[in-house]
Amino acid sequence: SRRALHRRLRRPIRGWVPVVATLGLTAALLPAAGPAAATLGDTLFPGQGNAGYEVRHYDVDLTYAPDTNHLDAVTHLRARAFTELASFHLDLEGLTVEAVTVDGTDATWTRQGHELVVTPATAVARGRFDVTVTYSGTPLEHTDPDGSTEGWVRSDTGDGATALGEPVGTMTWVPSDNTPGDKATWTFDITVPDGTEAAANGDLVSHDSDGASTTWTWVQDVPMATYLATVAIGQFDMAETTMTSIRGGEIPIWSFVDPTVGSTADAQALLPKVIRFEERRFGPYPGTSAGMIVDDVDVGYALETQDRPFYPYGLGTGALVHETAHQWYGDSVTLTDWHDIWLAEGFATYAQWLWDSAHGGASPAARFRALYAKPASSSLWHPAPVKFTDPADLFGAPSYQRGAMTLQALRARVGGEDFSRILRRWATEHRDGNVRTHQFEALAEQVSGRRHLDGLFDDWLRLDGKPRGY
Ligand code: ARG
Ligand code: ZN
Repeated sequence: SRRALHRRLRRPIRGWVPVVATLGLTAALLPAAGPAAATLGDTLFPGQGNAGYEVRHYDVDLTYAPDTNHLDAVTHLRARAFTELASFHLDLEGLTVEAVTVDGTDATWTRQGHELVVTPATAVARGRFDVTVTYSGTPLEHTDPDGSTEGWVRSDTGDGATALGEPVGTMTWVPSDNTPGDKATWTFDITVPDGTEAAANGDLVSHDSDGASTTWTWVQDVPMATYLATVAIGQFDMAETTMTSIRGGEIPIWSFVDPTVGSTADAQALLPKVIRFEERRFGPYPGTSAGMIVDDVDVGYALETQDRPFYPYGLGTGALVHETAHQWYGDSVTLTDWHDIWLAEGFATYAQWLWDSAHGGASPAARFRALYAKPASSSLWHPAPVKFTDPADLFGAPSYQRGAMTLQALRARVGGEDFSRILRRWATEHRDGNVRTHQFEALAEQVSGRRHLDGLFDDWLRLDGKPRGY
């Protein structure tokens, strides 16, 4: 039913209205193929994501030269059309497209900004179809509305690059349906010169040399949003270990650390403890493997790239706890529209509060009180977490701190036991899925048996300004 809802929300815009207007009802009832729209209508990034289809699987094949920053790529997409499509869009920024085939037959394409508009030789029928895009060039960095950098980010020492995709940067290296609402499984084949490492999401299945270059093959069998995809190429120390989940199963760990960033031995030792701490509170670890990527990429933020979060210089415990918590909240339970970002950042921040409180720090209630003491003029209170309209506010204090305060206000209202149940059920019931804020509100009311939490959620998530209290 989640998929059904997903499908309903992603209904393509068909040519009904103009057809009805010009040809009358009879013609309108004939199933005519139309072009699929260029957008899904995300409130903050309306140009991202595409109507008419969903992607089931991305197979990304990259050959990369670290010294020249040149990429030769072929991406195969297995997709499903919701209706007959005369043309459809992919999101791709920069690079040069050399060929596009649809179901094995050459297609024509145009580039319109970051839209790659594909017109197959014959319309795609409803149901499964395959697309292959061959492209090359120097991938772009992408500057976000808040001035931060993502996309294909070259490392400071020039030994390679790390691809960062939140919110939109994955379109700089993968032609994609670049919206968090369309999750897919992935494989990556990354060919680099011998002696260079290439990390990605999922499980490392092989790294084989032909005597000059090595192909690193990674398989991500858990659905993953485009913004969580990564590759990191460079001179890394690779550490392969395993850990034991609280359920007793083994979780393989692949970590890639650029030795120029300094020792991360402490963080590597801490990772299994953080995962088990969070498993006890949020439920079983949602991925098939874990790890970290620590690179000399100076973007100023860490990122919860699925299974293998990215950390820039200086990896502290707070970031480790935060990005690991995103594996449940954000990566496994993924927002559908970017304005629900508090469902990722508020929860990951709250996980830090839980960790700190269990390790001699302030309690979440004390953290809440300290933040609540901030004056009404503080940027914490403006704009409200689910009411902001400027994409530059995506990673602001309202998403992180006021988001975490929302959870603490909920805990204070429903009590610790129900609150724990809500956190776990949110992670387990929506595992591998997509969500919106109203679903969290409904779950909180259901679990707590309280019919009237809407006032609390309105105060904490929707009221512009400082809520009255809790
Ligand atoms: N989600 C990241 C975190 O865990 C922050 C990403 C910031 N991205 C950006 N382009 N500035 O905090
Ligand atoms: Zn975060």
